[in-house]
Amino acid sequence: MENLDWQKLGFGYRDTDYNVRCYYRNGKWGELEISSSSSINIHMSATALHYGQEAFEGLKAFKGKDGKVRVFRMDENAKRMQNSADGILMQKLPVEKFQEAVRMAVKMNERFIPPYESGAALYIRPLLIGTGPQIGVAPAEEYLFVVFVMPVGPYFPEGFKPTNLVIYREFDRAAPQGTGKYKVGGNYAASMYEGKKAKKNGFSAVLYLDSKEKKYIDECGPANFFGIKNNTYITPESDSILPSITNKSLIVLAEEMGLNVERRKVPYEELAGFDEVGACGTAAVISPIKGIYDNDNDKWFKYGNQEEAGEWSTKLYNKLRAIQYGDEPDTHGWVKII
Ligand code: PLP
Ligand code: COI
Repeated sequence: MENLDWQKLGFGYRDTDYNVRCYYRNGKWGELEISSSSSINIHMSATALHYGQEAFEGLKAFKGKDGKVRVFRMDENAKRMQNSADGILMQKLPVEKFQEAVRMAVKMNERFIPPYESGAALYIRPLLIGTGPQIGVAPAEEYLFVVFVMPVGPYFPEGFKPTNLVIYREFDRAAPQGTGKYKVGGNYAASMYEGKKAKKNGFSAVLYLDSKEKKYIDECGPANFFGIKNNTYITPESDSILPSITNKSLIVLAEEMGLNVERRKVPYEELAGFDEVGACGTAAVISPIKGIYDNDNDKWFKYGNQEEAGEWSTKLYNKLRAIQYGDEPDTHGWVKII
């Protein structure tokens, strides 16, 4: 096994041994190929570079106490990447090919999978780009799919300690009927300016309101939003947020724990009434939120005791992690042993 300080990984790029690639040429996908190079050779007029024909995914593999390696819900990531591909007119990779590429990338980089005790994981990053040249705005005729991996710690350095979010009404990440529901690079480029501003001011991420009316909660920079009150897990329904696989899983777990679940528009005013608030996603897992600052109105919403995550967020976090690491049985068929 690689000799790394597994506890102190953070969420950063790191080279590993191999990545897996697949090319779409002459109207069809080729075979999966293994590469040990972290570079790709790309035409200067590739649509990914000029017109943003790019989609990515994020999922994780976990090493269990039993030594087995589990990947969480990769069929969902495969389907979401197909949806993103449809959204920006890229060629779709078959679900089975996506899963096989993930399996290969995890297996071949086994020495980089963090040990069980570290609480870290192997982050898996599938990427799909238009590589064929175009200069008029049109979809490419050639595509490249790549899966690479790296060991990671928590996305927010605080891990499971509560942090603060900020609302800036002058910035939107996605248009109401735009690409917010797809995992495409343009959404992330659009969020960087205010994301950096938020960090500079001590916030872990931006909490976006819906871009049309600024009346409802959308999501956080890299994660979905949820709030809990009166034994109810509440999460926004919106056409411009990414359908989070973590959130979808938490909804199931919340119901099993006896919480009510509401997926609906969440008005801004409701921020005042939550007992607990969190951001959820593959990278973020559950990041508890202790405060939301409305920058335009100089107003704070505060949650919990400010020191630690609330009761339900903690239960949900522990349950999800237990399934992912194989500490508890996977009764939903969410994990695949590699
Ligand atoms: N929302 C955005 C904008 C994201 O980038 C992510 C990360 O993938 C999520 C939500 C969480 O989605 P998931 O739980 O599928 O990782
Ligand atoms: C993820 O949670 O996998 C993400 O993609 C979030 C971020 C790193 C963009």
